[in-house]
Amino acid sequence: MATAPQAFAAFVALDLHRDTTRDAVRRLLRVLSEDAAALTQGRAPVADQEPWLTVNPARLTVTLGLGLGPRLLGLVAPDRAPAWLRPLPSFSIDRLEERWSDGDLLLQFCADDRLTVAHAQRVLLKDSRSFAAVRWVQDGFRHTVGSVPDGQSMRNLFGQVDGTVTPRAGSAEFERVVHGRDGFPPWIQDGTSLVVRRIAMNLDTWDEADTPAREDAVGRRLRDGAPLTGGAEHDEPDLAARGPLNFPVIADYAHVRRSRSEDPRERIHRRAYNYDLPVADASGTRGRGATTGGVSDAGMVFAAYCSDVDRQVVPIQRRLDELDMLNAWTTPVGSAVFAVPPGCAEGGFVGDVLFGDCGPPLWGPAHAHGRARAERDNGDGPPRRRGADEGD
Ligand code: HEM
Repeated sequence: MATAPQAFAAFVALDLHRDTTRDAVRRLLRVLSEDAAALTQGRAPVADQEPWLTVNPARLTVTLGLGLGPRLLGLVAPDRAPAWLRPLPSFSIDRLEERWSDGDLLLQFCADDRLTVAHAQRVLLKDSRSFAAVRWVQDGFRHTVGSVPDGQSMRNLFGQVDGTVTPRAGSAEFERVVHGRDGFPPWIQDGTSLVVRRIAMNLDTWDEADTPAREDAVGRRLRDGAPLTGGAEHDEPDLAARGPLNFPVIADYAHVRRSRSEDPRERIHRRAYNYDLPVADASGTRGRGATTGGVSDAGMVFAAYCSDVDRQVVPIQRRLDELDMLNAWTTPVGSAVFAVPPGCAEGGFVGDVLFGDCGPPLWGPAHAHGRARAERDNGDGPPRRRGADEGD
């Protein structure tokens, strides 16, 4: 999640087979970590039958997330399961479907080449199949590399500039929000959480709104993503500004007002991927609130990373549930929460710290977090741990 977003993603949730043991989970995590390490470095894992597909890793990253309760983390280290590792509370806007929700284990593949994502996904799934079955797969895409200047925010399928306000990798804010510190003890040192929300976007009813209505719904200009209070994309919105009729320039129901909080603890790192599927029920139009029909089945795979889901994601989602003009066109249809362990040292595997039988101790009080990191960065500390999210 610290790598600049790649063009393509596949989020794959697995369910462990019923008879899976703690030892089997250890073997599974080890093999997945080895596969991920090889593929992200452009090497073929041992059992790879198409090694020529690994030559171009295309900034591949693989992130492993551990799912809910007794099924995985509960099996491995119940005392290490963070309190927030459970489904989000249900919201009135939700129309969640089981086929897009929950799961014991998440594999997140991101790369700039769709072929690389497909191959990495296949290799890891082949190696998982005696331990777990696929529960769901969510593919997503952003702009193709080279089609827009590097570093430019992406556009979603509503045509909006998306991803303007989010902590940038490498900043102190990113470390605080994603890995915890300053009042946010991480569930495990260098670990984080990943919330995946699948949100259907009704392009047919969006088509009925004109540009001023669309901009009013978000509080930003469509042309360049600038706040409606003026300036350029990265200028601060002026939430106090009022127009000639004394109405707020950024409406009370605007998405940027509702998703923003004065509380610096309510921050998340967001990464959105578009999805656009073949239409299952091409009736011509989708009515308001409908998630089938129309001429497109489109939306967003919304990924949020933070150190404490209950304190960071839930308050934002609650405010959006209470009031957000975008809800007129969007419907959450999937939701899943995962705990993401830190990377691992050479010879280790992602999640090994949870088994308590490897390498230097990694968890500890929040205040030790920054110190351990600084020591490693100076080259004085324990060996640098290799991330499954390689390349970060
Ligand atoms: C399909 C659904 C959604 C769409 C189309 C959407 C679109 C946008 C757009 C266009 C912006 C303004 C540009 C930017 O800063 O990225 C934005 C900002 C933001 N959104 Fe969303 N969003 C969606 C869902 C969500 C959800 C589910 C959450 C959180 C649970 C969320 C949280 C935020 C936050 C925190 C900001 C930044 C607010 C600020 O401080 O300025 N969004 N979103």
